[in-house]
Amino acid sequence: MLSQKLQDGLNGQLNFELYSAYVYLSMANYLESLNLKGMAHWMDLQAREELEHAGKFITHINDRGGRVLLRQIDGPKTEWKSPLEAFEEAYRHECEVSARINGLVDLSINEKDHAANAFLQWFVTEQVEEEANVLDIVEKLKMVGDRTTGLFMIDRELSKRGEA
Ligand code: FEO
Repeated sequence: MLSQKLQDGLNGQLNFELYSAYVYLSMANYLESLNLKGMAHWMDLQAREELEHAGKFITHINDRGGRVLLRQIDGPKTEWKSPLEAFEEAYRHECEVSARINGLVDLSINEKDHAANAFLQWFVTEQVEEEANVLDIVEKLKMVGDRTTGLFMIDRELSKRGEA
């Protein structure tokens, strides 16, 4: 059985995962508006992954006899100055997710909840990959700068992303 504190924390993260999906869906449509379809595709898959993450929180809360409480999801930003700015923001967003997951791990330790701790370890590992993937794109975008050819090469590369 989940403690009230952990139930609140897990529900908070569930909301943040749904918000993350909203953020990436918004970025996907910004990139689509620039006709960068490969980058839009990458962001669209990222949004779907966030929905899967939200699903994992729902399953865990329910399996532990807790109560899933859905709250209002904040509206995401809709415009960025450049693809680089959008991906940089995606990177900062993932760092924020990691910090929140770490906070929940701390809470699971304080609450002596080993099941929640084991559940959260999957996210600890996942966040390493999530941060690294976006950072890799940020670095490449910085390298090509304003050069259109480079931008289209990255766009083509990102179009190849498959479902996780
Ligand atoms: Fe669910 Fe991208 O963190």
